[in-house]
Amino acid sequence: MHEFLDFGLAQTTLSPLNLRVKSANGVYIELADGRKLIDFVSGIGVSTYGHGHPKIKQALHEQVEAHLHVMVYGEFRQSAQDAAAVSLLALLPTALDAVYFVNSGAEAIDGALKLARKSSGRKSFLSLKDGYHGNTFGALSISSNKERRAPFEPLMEGVDFIALNDFEDLQRIDGSHAAVIMETVQGDAGVRIPHQEWMHALRNRCDETGTLLILDEIQCGIGRTGKPFAFEHFGIVPDVLCLGKAIGAGVPMGAFVSGKERMKTLAESPSLSHITTFGGHPLACAAAAAGFDLLNSMDWAEIESRGSRIEERIRAHGAVVEVRRIGYFIAVELDRSDAVHFCVQHALKNGLLIFYFLSTPQAFRITPPLTMTDDEIDDALNILCSALDAWKTSDAPLH
Ligand SMILES: Cc1ncc(COP(=O)(O)O)c(C=O)c1O
Repeated sequence: MHEFLDFGLAQTTLSPLNLRVKSANGVYIELADGRKLIDFVSGIGVSTYGHGHPKIKQALHEQVEAHLHVMVYGEFRQSAQDAAAVSLLALLPTALDAVYFVNSGAEAIDGALKLARKSSGRKSFLSLKDGYHGNTFGALSISSNKERRAPFEPLMEGVDFIALNDFEDLQRIDGSHAAVIMETVQGDAGVRIPHQEWMHALRNRCDETGTLLILDEIQCGIGRTGKPFAFEHFGIVPDVLCLGKAIGAGVPMGAFVSGKERMKTLAESPSLSHITTFGGHPLACAAAAAGFDLLNSMDWAEIESRGSRIEERIRAHGAVVEVRRIGYFIAVELDRSDAVHFCVQHALKNGLLIFYFLSTPQAFRITPPLTMTDDEIDDALNILCSALDAWKTSDAPLH
């Protein structure tokens, strides 16, 4: 039996990595058995500024000294919330001028869906095939993986799916839809990047039909794609933006952002239409505000040149079928899922953390901290390439 259950801690899988963490600093996770792993996934896109960044730690320490939770979301004025809101909104287009802080990515999605229904008076949603939005009932209802949905049905009514980059499917958007919701760059589908023209056509069709466009940037936002927000690559602005993961710089947090007038609809009839005890927690907001300062100071040209160096080195390996990359959001596709499993485990044994996708078994993910140095990247790539070499020369059948 795994150690988790020995301690009464419920598992999410029957085969967890089960590694005990001692500490984490920069790009390294130190294990209790003395091993050190290079973190090439950033806790699935969370530790974007590396682990234990001194500025994040300082902001957290200062907030601990000032106060922790004092009152449910929105009742008291809290400086950490104000600071986080001001610095986030300064990074965004002016149409996105109100943020609601919540506790997780999935809650940000649920909040955005409620906002869309309440502000539009419409009931239906269109989501994207192969999209992943989290595991609350609302978020699962707009996620498309059938196997993950089936045990929990019936899910939310009024949800249908269109295909990424399919122009014909855009004609299905009509006046009955409260919103179209999609990941700006699909993560769990294995880093699927939309075409620029399709994103423009989608934006236009939403405008024509009065349908809101909700972009889920819980995974692809906050610098992951080599710009502060992924929608900046496509020259469009969403009506609602969902954030999570890296927004709290390692502290649990989510957010949905929209225009003030629209956001006001959640404050009345009934008031507190979306209320949460811990949303906008002062610790999360303090970390987020410090994180936005770091995001502001990133050298995006340098990140892009490092990203393309990572891509080229991996792409050149004979075991690799395809690499999809935007910034530091990378999927490496191999010919089969057992190759992925072999490489993840081989890399782990040799001190590198790369990881699986939930719904794309033939690929693994690389989402490095943006703060990684050239030397650290080289160390990671050397371990990764020896895992790929080992797969190539292994005696696994049929390869
Ligand atoms: C694109 C996307 N949306 C939503 C979520 C859900 O976020 P959380 O796990 O914080 O609820 C995730 C989590 O992986 C995600 O990748």
